[in-house]
Amino acid sequence: MAQFTLPANSKIGKGKSFPAPNGATKTKTFQIYRWNPDDGTNPRIDSYTIDLSGCGPMVLDALIHIKDQVDTTLTFRRSCREGICGSCAMNIDGSNTLACTKAIDDVDGDVRIYPLPHMPVVKDLVPDLTHVYAQYQSIRPWLHTESPTPPDRERLQSPDERAKLDGLYECILCFCCTTSCPSYWWNGDKYLGPAILLQAYRWLADSRDEAKGERLDELEDPFRLYRCHTIMNCTKACPKGLNPAKAIAEIKKMMIERRV
Ligand code: SF4
Ligand code: SF4
Ligand code: FES
Repeated sequence: MAQFTLPANSKIGKGKSFPAPNGATKTKTFQIYRWNPDDGTNPRIDSYTIDLSGCGPMVLDALIHIKDQVDTTLTFRRSCREGICGSCAMNIDGSNTLACTKAIDDVDGDVRIYPLPHMPVVKDLVPDLTHVYAQYQSIRPWLHTESPTPPDRERLQSPDERAKLDGLYECILCFCCTTSCPSYWWNGDKYLGPAILLQAYRWLADSRDEAKGERLDELEDPFRLYRCHTIMNCTKACPKGLNPAKAIAEIKKMMIERRV
């Protein structure tokens, strides 16, 4: 079994170790990042060995089992447990993903769990999403229209126009992509990052939206859009199989097209 070791210069300490219960038949160890803003101590890694025979198959099942049966202080977000709400995004076995769709059996050895990288931490596995949601608000993610609303029907789209939103509307704002993007790590104060840019493109691609020029004007900035260097970590990380890097490339293409 792979052993988890912290680098010698890590400020993260070794924490408590919770052994397997007596009579456990199928054990697995979870090494989990813990940090409590109220206790004044550095982060630590707690180790929980649980009996998988009493637990569901996904990493989120293990976290719920630990919180319910072993250590009620463990803190994490979750809601749907179906890969729909995006709340349970975290770094598992070195990759950003959703705990509810990550199978425990897919991880060899101990399961290492950290919060999403390069985000402030509220507690344990809960990142502070205040800044990224402010960035989301900044792109005004709703339909903008100037023309009068038709009195007797919705604003219609052809099937082809509607199809342009495929691969965009499915985004669940989990931020696995944004927190795997090196450009966002270093310039997240000004660069919007892949999740928000994919959302921005979702509105640019909507045939019903009548604010394309303004939306592009707001993105035409050395940092907000152009810090993307096509490293593609975002697309690799997306647990929904979306392609934020392609959405960003489409925005850049729109910028060029409107200049010619
Ligand atoms: S393609 Fe752009 S957004 Fe995606 S990881 Fe690379 S720099 Fe970040
Ligand atoms: S593009 Fe994918 S990884 Fe990024 S926020 Fe949306 S669903 Fe999550
Ligand atoms: S709990 Fe909703 S996506 Fe995992």
